[in-house]
Amino acid sequence: MRVAYAAQGMNSPAQESNLDVAALADGWLPLLQKWMDQASAAGIAEPNAMVLATVDAEGLPASRTVLCKGLTEDGLVFYTNYGSGKARQLDAHPYASATFSWIAFAHQVTVRGPVDRVDPEVTEAYWRTRPRGSQLGAWASQQSRPIDSRAALDAQLAEVTARFSGVDDVPLVPGWGGFVIRPRTVEFWQGRANRMHNRVLVTRTDTGWIAERLQP
Ligand SMILES: Cc1cc2nc3c(=O)[nH]c(=O)nc-3n(C[C@H](O)[C@H](O)[C@H](O)COP(=O)(O)O)c2cc1C
Repeated sequence: MRVAYAAQGMNSPAQESNLDVAALADGWLPLLQKWMDQASAAGIAEPNAMVLATVDAEGLPASRTVLCKGLTEDGLVFYTNYGSGKARQLDAHPYASATFSWIAFAHQVTVRGPVDRVDPEVTEAYWRTRPRGSQLGAWASQQSRPIDSRAALDAQLAEVTARFSGVDDVPLVPGWGGFVIRPRTVEFWQGRANRMHNRVLVTRTDTGWIAERLQP
């Protein structure tokens, strides 16, 4: 099967410069931000989507998509229900891997590292930016818990919608908030012809970062 890269033009992998290994030793953030911005400018749906991998109590990996809602030197922030499967897994084993794939650009980035909950004020500030419908949806769902039917779920939404009908600012759901993945390694992958792809692994050290090229 052939990968369908973006047609001709500036997005074509063939016209993109090779990854600058030396520049990546100055830090992983600028290039990750650039690739995400590129995907966003091209109109790719959910350009901040990343597949988050955790492990369960048996060591069985689990993965799902979440949205990266904060990107700084400290790490990558996503928001979720603290009672969800992923959150329970992270509480027990606070390490994660997250992969962005922008297939149209032949770009992939994988971040791995320890995970912490963000400060409640950070969650509160983000919560205020969420649309009311998303806030109500968060109140209505005990994420990852079984429920008997779609009708039961809809009834839960109707109940919270009525409960907050006279309330301008829907309060933060108790047990909902952010996690930050603090990168220990960040791998950049850039597709090239004949499987001769570029890969650069950026690794945290005591004093900064080192970047090394990996074979494809
Ligand atoms: C594009 C996309 C974005 C998503 N973003 C989030 C998110 O930011 N936070 C979240 O909790 N779930 C998000 N989800 C849903 C998760 O993939 C997942 O179904 C849910 O969090 C429950 O996962 P868990 O049972 O492993 O905790 C998203 C799904 C998709 C497809």
